[in-house]
Amino acid sequence: MTQPFSHGVVNGADSVTDIVLKAMSRTPDPRLRELMESLVRHLHAFVKETKPTEEEFEIAVDFLVRLGQASGPEKNEVILLSDLLGVSTLVMSLNNARGLGETDSALLGPFWRAGAPVCDSGDSISRGGQGGEPLEMRGTVSDTGGKPIAGATVDVWQASPVGLYENQDEGQPEHNLRGRFVSDADGRFHFRTVRPAGYPVPVDGPCGELLRAQQRHPYRPAHIHFMISKEAFTTLITQVFANDDECIAADVVFGVTPPLSGKFEPDGKGGWTLDYKFVMQPGIRRIPKPPIP
Ligand code: BEZ
Ligand code: FE
Repeated sequence: MTQPFSHGVVNGADSVTDIVLKAMSRTPDPRLRELMESLVRHLHAFVKETKPTEEEFEIAVDFLVRLGQASGPEKNEVILLSDLLGVSTLVMSLNNARGLGETDSALLGPFWRAGAPVCDSGDSISRGGQGGEPLEMRGTVSDTGGKPIAGATVDVWQASPVGLYENQDEGQPEHNLRGRFVSDADGRFHFRTVRPAGYPVPVDGPCGELLRAQQRHPYRPAHIHFMISKEAFTTLITQVFANDDECIAADVVFGVTPPLSGKFEPDGKGGWTLDYKFVMQPGIRRIPKPPIP
């Protein structure tokens, strides 16, 4: 058992922070020590600034407990809270370089599934059951020097024209509106689909209560998700948004950046086209853990 370490006793509110920091000061893992020290400093500063009552503290603890209780394989309210507070976007932005023309990253979100059908360029990912306006998406993948990247895996997923992912909607076939493409020798890929609609994030749990209490709407602008990966490049996880969506500047989870606003253009035949150039940075190919099975 770890031997007792005499870090001293509390003597008034002003003494608490230093004593807690001293109690944690022998943490062997330096990164854990740094993270926890900073967390305690900021958390104590927040408590001193806002002075929650004991009743407010009980409500906050209950909220955190309910976040865990409402989470499971189909829904993760803890991630959703970090999305709604802008933390997911902040972590993503800090971990992805900007400045050499790399495509901005955007949060993975809860709906990526591993193992989407492998498709040939030009295939449709609309596998039936949802209707909607046709959309032709044409993309290129290049490095920051403008050189095309051939053989990149382009994993795409999107919501239906009524704003539901296939796993949320019994009317859609398995892996509908999902597919994996490979960029050709010129870094190009293209696929056919239907225009996605914007949708609300789940509001049936504690995160929904918070949004209502803050008078915030729950909507995301219409978008298509992309995860582009190739050995020796940082995996690019991003979303391209419909520039004409009324929520383009009001994304509830803060995923939109100006370059990610994509031009959805009428094709003159009742459908749409979307062209987008993806730029990857050198780095490590890492595929995230799928949020849903
Ligand atoms: C999404 O883009 O799929 C998403 C992101 C955050 C919360 C909910 C959905
Ligand atoms: Fe999405």
